[in-house]
Amino acid sequence: MKIFIDGANVEDVRYYQKLGFVDGVTTNPSIIAKTGQPIEAVIAALCGVTDGPVSAEVISTEAKGMIAEGQKLARLASNVVIKVPLTAEGLQACYALRQDNIDVNVTLCFSAAQALLAAKAGATFVSPFVGRLDDISQDGLALISEICLIFEQYPALNTEVLVASIRSPQQVVAAAKMGAHIATLPAKVLAQMLQHPLTEKGIEQFLSDWKNVSSDL
Ligand code: G3P
Repeated sequence: MKIFIDGANVEDVRYYQKLGFVDGVTTNPSIIAKTGQPIEAVIAALCGVTDGPVSAEVISTEAKGMIAEGQKLARLASNVVIKVPLTAEGLQACYALRQDNIDVNVTLCFSAAQALLAAKAGATFVSPFVGRLDDISQDGLALISEICLIFEQYPALNTEVLVASIRSPQQVVAAAKMGAHIATLPAKVLAQMLQHPLTEKGIEQFLSDWKNVSSDL
């Protein structure tokens, strides 16, 4: 499974890159807004620390504006991926941008039907949101399972399932079991995946036993 960092913190990307965890980065307008910087500066900085795909989301809601924004953002670096919402306008923009050989991440996907159409529009990635479905008492992982099952029936499909809106390590594990291609997760969840109290306890025990023995030698 590929792991993308869902966020705009360059230091997070640099740190986890040293562990081999970073296959790409995703952002969205809320993430960019929190930086207080222009999107061009944020995306350029992220593209400077990873060779993997870096998703930059358009803000326009009509296809014409999305295409113009996407062509401009794509010029920032060769690994920029343009994020468009899963709407009719968004899929029209996706189809057009893909004709220009610009990679597209179709986001805000909440149904298998939507995911199928994003693939038909030539999406490089489709981002079904697990957490936001769970937040309203729907089953986000059931959506991932459905999409993976459909995509498995059509090996010729080039669209990768990019599981997004992740809130816990368990969601990553479950999505991996389903064969999802990518999980994009906040650095916080990545840290949670890494930690286990029994690992910490085991290290403490080893060190304690070693200290006792070596002090006798
Ligand atoms: O960036 C796309 C997605 O991961 C955002 O998730 O946490 O805002 O529901 P979230």
